Amino acid sequence: MKAAAKAHTNIALIKYWGKRDEPLILPMNSSLSLTLDGFYTATSVDFRNDLSTDHFYLNEQFVTGAEKNRVTAFLDRIRAAAGKPDAFAEIHSTNHVPTAAGFASSASGFAALAAAAAKAIGLSADEQQLSILTRQGSGSACRSVYGGFVEWEKGTLSDGSDSYAVPVASANYWDIRVAAVILSSAEKKILSREGMRRTVDTSAYYPAWVDSIPNDLAAIKEGIAAKDIEKVGEIAEANCLRMHATTLAANPPFSYWQSTTVSIMQTVQDLRATGVPAFFTIDAGPNVKVLYTPEHEEKVRNMLQNITGVHDVKVSKPGEGVSYI
Ligand code: ADP
Ligand code: DP6
Repeated sequence: MKAAAKAHTNIALIKYWGKRDEPLILPMNSSLSLTLDGFYTATSVDFRNDLSTDHFYLNEQFVTGAEKNRVTAFLDRIRAAAGKPDAFAEIHSTNHVPTAAGFASSASGFAALAAAAAKAIGLSADEQQLSILTRQGSGSACRSVYGGFVEWEKGTLSDGSDSYAVPVASANYWDIRVAAVILSSAEKKILSREGMRRTVDTSAYYPAWVDSIPNDLAAIKEGIAAKDIEKVGEIAEANCLRMHATTLAANPPFSYWQSTTVSIMQTVQDLRATGVPAFFTIDAGPNVKVLYTPEHEEKVRNMLQNITGVHDVKVSKPGEGVSYI
């Protein structure tokens, strides 16, 4: 009863920000992402008769506490779905992505865990069912089941059976680049889960955020269909700024940005003024991702690497969905 799987992270171009149901992880709004080939998690799950609890190793470290409890709570759902409540596992996971630093380690982590655990326990799940399962580990992870551009349809049912990811365009559809600009790999203070909860509960701007999503989604899908980097980039950048604006209007207010975050945002906008179509987006952390087309690779990379406070720039292409290893 052992299986292993690999999943890439994804970067949201239209952000998921806010839950309508916490335990089931049902979102307030639909979202759209691009799966990235440069960052991934590989996870093996071995259900063993001699275990009376799960043993979780992350990056070769034995994990206890909240991180382990989150994995066990997720495996409880897999055990329940498989009708095997007493099956416990040894889990080894390696993140080829900084953990809890705004690089979506939870997305690649839970997509890989869901795929490996479902296979190991003998639960047959198609991609849609796998996306529903994965969502219950971490919302954004449900999009990492697929490669390329992916939409997570928020659904309306209270049991979550219509809240899952659907592929929009495959990884080889459009050759674009996402540069991850790394200024800090330190674990963040306000996890995305807590940040979005505070925003939903207290931000005066939250209703406006939710209202803005249907237009953004329809327009960005037109942009993807036309392979129009200006349209896709402008919508993604504006959507990111709107998400971060909701955190500034929360109580107490907070921001994921650091001074270097703002420098990078300004550099990208300056680059654009010189005719280079580059656009930024930022998740729940200080690091920035920059979207552009490959012919501008050298210029974009050089500009980003020379910003004071930038540690590294790692460029991704569109990545594939979950695979078994
Ligand atoms: P990130 O920006 O890295 O996604 P989040 O706050 O969304 O940060 O999630 C980080 C959390 O995801 C970690 O604290 C841990 O609980 C969980 N996580 C990260 N990697 C893995 C993994 N490989 N397997 C299981 N859980 C993971
Ligand atoms: C800003 O998926 O990490 O990256 O569902 O609580 O695990 P949970 O949250 P998570 O939140 C991601 C938020 C985001 C936007 C996005 O990826 O869509």
